[in-house]
Amino acid sequence: MAPWTRLALVPLLAQAVTATPVPDAASEDAVQLDQRDSVPEGYESPPYYPTPYGGWASDWAEAYEKAQQVVENMTLAEKVNLTTGTGIFMGPCVGQTGSAPRFGIPNLCLQDSPLGIRNTDHNTAFPAGITVGATFNKDLMYARGVGIGQEARGKGVNIQLGPAVGPLGRKPRGGRIWEGFGADPSLQAIGGAQTIKGMQSTGTIATIKHFIGNEQEMYRMSSVLSKGYSSNIDDRTLHELYLWPFAEGVRAGVGSLMTAYNDVNGSACSQNSKLINGILKDELGFQGFVMTDWLGHYTGVGAALSGLDMSMPGDGAVPLFGDSYWGSELSRSILNGSVPVPRLNDMVTRIVATWYKMDQDADYPLPNFSTNTEDETGPLYPGALFSPSGVVNQYVNVQGDHNITARAVAREAVTLLKNEDNILPLQKNDSLKIFGTDAGGNSDGLNSCSDQGCDKGVLTMGWGSGTARLPYLITPQQGIANVTNNAEFYITDSFPSDVTASANDIAVVFINADSGENYITVEGNPGDRTDAGLYAWHNGDELVKAAAAKFSNVVVVVHTVGPILMEEWIDLESVKGVLVAHLPGQEAGNSLADVLFGDYSPSGHMPYTIPRSESDYPDSVSIIDQPFGQIQDTYTEGLYVDYRHFINANITPRYPFGHGLSYTTFNFSNPSMSVVTALDTAYPAAAPARGATPVYNDSIPAASEVAWSSTTFTRIWRYLYPYLDNPESITASDDYPYPDGYTTTPHAEPRAGGGQGGNPALFDTAFSVQVNVKNTGSRPGKAVAQLYVELPSSLGLDTPSLQLRQFEKTTTLVPNQSETLTLEITRKDVSVWDVDAQDWKAPVNGQGIKLWVGNSVADLPILCVVGGDCSFQ
Ligand SMILES: *[C@@H]1O[C@H](CO)[C@@H](O)[C@H](O)[C@H]1NC(C)=O
Ligand SMILES: *[C@@H]1O[C@H](CO)[C@@H](O)[C@H](O)[C@H]1NC(C)=O
Ligand SMILES: *[C@@H]1O[C@H](CO)[C@@H](O)[C@H](O)[C@H]1NC(C)=O
Ligand SMILES: *[C@@H]1O[C@H](CO)[C@@H](O)[C@H](O)[C@H]1NC(C)=O
Ligand SMILES: *[C@@H]1O[C@H](CO)[C@@H](O)[C@H](O)[C@H]1NC(C)=O
Ligand SMILES: *[C@@H]1O[C@H](CO)[C@@H](O)[C@H](O)[C@H]1NC(C)=O
Ligand SMILES: *[C@@H]1O[C@H](CO)[C@@H](O)[C@H](O)[C@H]1NC(C)=O
Ligand SMILES: *[C@@H]1O[C@H](CO)[C@@H](O)[C@H](O)[C@H]1NC(C)=O
Ligand SMILES: *[C@@H]1O[C@H](CO)[C@@H](O)[C@H](O)[C@H]1NC(C)=O
Ligand SMILES: *[C@@H]1O[C@H](CO)[C@@H](O)[C@H](O)[C@H]1NC(C)=O
Repeated sequence: MAPWTRLALVPLLAQAVTATPVPDAASEDAVQLDQRDSVPEGYESPPYYPTPYGGWASDWAEAYEKAQQVVENMTLAEKVNLTTGTGIFMGPCVGQTGSAPRFGIPNLCLQDSPLGIRNTDHNTAFPAGITVGATFNKDLMYARGVGIGQEARGKGVNIQLGPAVGPLGRKPRGGRIWEGFGADPSLQAIGGAQTIKGMQSTGTIATIKHFIGNEQEMYRMSSVLSKGYSSNIDDRTLHELYLWPFAEGVRAGVGSLMTAYNDVNGSACSQNSKLINGILKDELGFQGFVMTDWLGHYTGVGAALSGLDMSMPGDGAVPLFGDSYWGSELSRSILNGSVPVPRLNDMVTRIVATWYKMDQDADYPLPNFSTNTEDETGPLYPGALFSPSGVVNQYVNVQGDHNITARAVAREAVTLLKNEDNILPLQKNDSLKIFGTDAGGNSDGLNSCSDQGCDKGVLTMGWGSGTARLPYLITPQQGIANVTNNAEFYITDSFPSDVTASANDIAVVFINADSGENYITVEGNPGDRTDAGLYAWHNGDELVKAAAAKFSNVVVVVHTVGPILMEEWIDLESVKGVLVAHLPGQEAGNSLADVLFGDYSPSGHMPYTIPRSESDYPDSVSIIDQPFGQIQDTYTEGLYVDYRHFINANITPRYPFGHGLSYTTFNFSNPSMSVVTALDTAYPAAAPARGATPVYNDSIPAASEVAWSSTTFTRIWRYLYPYLDNPESITASDDYPYPDGYTTTPHAEPRAGGGQGGNPALFDTAFSVQVNVKNTGSRPGKAVAQLYVELPSSLGLDTPSLQLRQFEKTTTLVPNQSETLTLEITRKDVSVWDVDAQDWKAPVNGQGIKLWVGNSVADLPILCVVGGDCSFQ
């Protein structure tokens, strides 16, 4: 088998064949849009039409003007080309649009992943999102984004498919929670926004995903037996948790957004008009374009009306059949009048404007790699079977000095949970015994598992499309051996019988827990951790206990995708130190050694809670396994996920959200608070009027613009084109069965909208809190100040008592050095979503708001009361 087949086609086909074959078109649209039968009482996705036009935001105006000049001259074929992928395996990238060569617009290349460029070489495998979240370091979040953007650009990727801010981590067993930044909306929001700004500073278009409610992997896609699950989310929970990071991504200017596979309230995300037209494009004022997840496109006309702008990778219900819901069918639906011409113009304008916004018209490289093969030459369109061949991999080295950023992120994420008797840092002359396969490499070879679909050796990332190949790997074993000669390595998961222990020995035990995307099952776990649960893999608990029985000094190092249970060993007397190194990427060993041996103090903080038992979580966040019928995943826990739940249910976790120790100590002093913008009204002032949007000729174009007979090139079998045979025979009619509530009359502007991310007044800084941080210990280190908001009951809504809204990290402080941190809190940060008013409501004059500052959600020594002072508690 050709390598591209082995590496890419097999898992994708496995995924693809489970997609429901959907017959044609007209009736299907209506059926899919109406399929809400089994959604619980009260949940529904109301119609929201038409799609708001893009282009009214002032900082996009110039890009939209350029786009308009081009789009007004485009033929129907050119317009359709840019909205539809050329088909799976029909080009170098995981997806690519058709092109518009008359205007210098190439096939736009879309490529995974959120942590680096997937399926290529001479790239950097950065630490995963969860690791980035654990740094609580905004500069590193940005720097990693710049690195990913530079590598995308260097490989000719126009649209990089990250960051992921959904899933949010509602389900501790959820397979892809490691791709995002942590189980809190503000941490996700800041991580996502910094990543987007960094990526887009290089000209690469970032993609925020997955919109929305994709909190479990199993049954996310439709199959012959069941429709993808429905996440049933009430309006307030959506706004205050799951939408929050998307709003900040839009505010950061993200160019594209990917919908989720699943339904929300019984309506698929890629054709949910309330979500795309209403919430994303009207309320959040999104100016970029919306694409499907891969093969997550379910209807033609329906999706267009609901606000979808790009079909990826373009294929219809069954990939590689050469058909699409869009492509030539979109041409047809324009000619027959079912999709209004202004909707198509808006789709294309959004795509072209985003391309101009990132200056991709100037010198942007074409793809010089292939996601399909590592060979230098091969078929240009592997999905075509009969394809022209050529050079597909130029092996361009795009690494720059990104190894420095990768190592810095991984190092600053290392989270010290426990350090009895100051067992850490280790001395270089300590006698070390190192245990666990997680300290070593993959015994089958680097990248031997496609898309990292196995758990062998140190866990550097989860599995699935959210990965990149490791260009090299520094294992913990190598990182430690580089520093000391006094370490013996037992790279095994069963405790060796022949190991001797002397009193001064320190055992360092490596364990891990993996998860990933649903199209690969690893050791019985189909993405979500269904089989492993929250336990360490490979009998990790037994390994720790065996070491603890033999050695009186044990340090445990954990590489994990998310929450893990430590109860079997955490209180053992000899378990003195615990480090969570998250998912460190290629610099695993060096970053860990940096901290283990004290060259750096640990400064990571937990981006989620470590529970004592899985039953500590609400039942509603369990993985739902139900092979028949559509799963109804109803978010009955509302706002109470992760620490919000633990506090509300009065459950003391093993380690709270935000927890992380250092080798040195810090003292907060002189806290103060100032009011920056008074909250003199409960709701923000109305937003300024929106700017104009492009106006086009709305007439149905000439059928000849999409006639096959107008083309001269050789058609590639199965490739997706915009063209039709005999388009002249298509006549426009108005008898399309439009969904209930369909209209072409625009809605009144939502009062919560008016700018990118929402009403600009929501982002006025309301309060500024300053705190002095002093290093009172004996080693250099960095401290994080976390700010949690407590809202008064006067708002009349049941609200989690503490919510992270801001954080800042110091630079490296040497002993006795101090730094003043400023934490800014916006109006939105102290607001709740008022479902009736459809607006954000804050306590008038901030009355009763409490701002807590400290080291974790459970260690908040400073309280600032609005209208009063800051004091120590
Ligand atoms: C127009 O074409 C689209 C795409 O094939 C189809 O779904 C729709 O039903 C057609 N409309 C009419 C009125 O026939
Ligand atoms: C889902 O249904 C709930 C309950 O009726 C509603 O509050 C919410 O706005 C709906 N969300 C969407 C996206 O339709
Ligand atoms: C679009 O067409 C107009 C009229 O033919 C022409 O003046 C203009 O230069 C064209 N713009 C582009 C970008 O091709
Ligand atoms: C549509 O895109 C294809 C490449 O995907 C290109 O060959 C074709 O020329 C494009 N059509 C037009 C009208 O530009
Ligand atoms: C590939 O990338 C390199 C470096 O960014 C660039 O010089 C080259 O032109 C690109 N290849 C193509 C085919 O554009
Ligand atoms: C990064 O890579 C460069 C060149 O590949 C190498 O010289 C340097 O030592 C590496 N830096 C780190 C921190 O690993
Ligand atoms: C290790 O070195 C430190 C000084 O760097 C010294 O204080 C300590 O006694 C040494 N320990 C052993 C076991 O040799
Ligand atoms: C090895 O240790 C040295 C000194 O601590 C450090 O500079 C280097 O980055 C480490 N790693 C490698 C792979 O050389
Ligand atoms: C820490 O700060 C508090 C409040 O400013 C102060 O009372 C205390 O003395 C400080 N402790 C140290 C060790 O500096
Ligand atoms: C609008 O487009 C239609 C169809 O291509 C054409 O007949 C008409 O002349 C155009 N109108 C203007 C004002 O350009």
